[in-house]
Amino acid sequence: MIPLNSTNINKPLKEIEKRIDSYPAMPAMCQHLIKSCEDPDVNFKKLVDEIRYDPGITANILKMANSAYYGSSRRIESLQTAMVRLGLKQISEIVIAHSVADRLVKKLQGYDLRPEELLKHSVWVAIAAEDLANVLHIKPPAMLFTAGLLHDLGKIILDDYILDQREALLKATGNNGEDKISFDIVEHQILGINHSEVGAQLLENWNFPEELVIAVRYHHAPTDPDIEYDPSAAMVHIADMLAYSVGIGIGVDGLQYVSNPEVIERLHLKPIILEGVASRTLEKMEELKSLLVG
Ligand SMILES: [Fe+2]
Ligand SMILES: [Fe+2]
Repeated sequence: MIPLNSTNINKPLKEIEKRIDSYPAMPAMCQHLIKSCEDPDVNFKKLVDEIRYDPGITANILKMANSAYYGSSRRIESLQTAMVRLGLKQISEIVIAHSVADRLVKKLQGYDLRPEELLKHSVWVAIAAEDLANVLHIKPPAMLFTAGLLHDLGKIILDDYILDQREALLKATGNNGEDKISFDIVEHQILGINHSEVGAQLLENWNFPEELVIAVRYHHAPTDPDIEYDPSAAMVHIADMLAYSVGIGIGVDGLQYVSNPEVIERLHLKPIILEGVASRTLEKMEELKSLLVG
């Protein structure tokens, strides 16, 4: 946490906190599926029966199971077969992705993101983070894709306040040189909270797993002394910086963040690795996005 001083009194903080607490929760099925994914003794048959009663989720699971994105070769008509093909982890990712897609699709005036731009950025980061783990031969942490998808969720709440304070925020980040101050730090200084903290607070309110909360809270500060090294936060951070470097969802802040040199060194990241991640992600992204909003 960055200490506040008398020059950055944050009047809107109380209002922001109220908005966080009143923001609509994720559907109960999302939370149920996340819990089921963590349960090694989950009753798969019972889960199929529960999902069957939700026509929207059933349709989405069938659509995904039959998509080229998941390597479909023959048509699947039954929910149970679709769920077996996808597996619990992917099912919960699909359900979460569908639940947040309509929230992420909106235009964010403060962050200067056109409609669908935040969704595109979020899906891109989710795919890239998993691809990065694979290419580095790191077993992807269970919630990595979802962490990528939700990493900037807090921007939805902060957008109005960013619009009000945009000039002050940009002025405080300084120029593009070495002395640039990361946008999330400036957000915290001026508003009393930044979009990573808002997103983490939302996920905490919804009782999402701690792994997810930490990855979202520290996606701009993966080596913060408050946490031990967290692979999800580190990989979401790199995927996020890569998204901005290839122009996915830059908005007002995308060029005002700094890549963490400790993470780059720790993961032995070379430009060729990142180029490969970026090109594979671009390929997969359009298809997954069209499944989500189509
Ligand atoms: Fe962010
Ligand atoms: Fe981001």
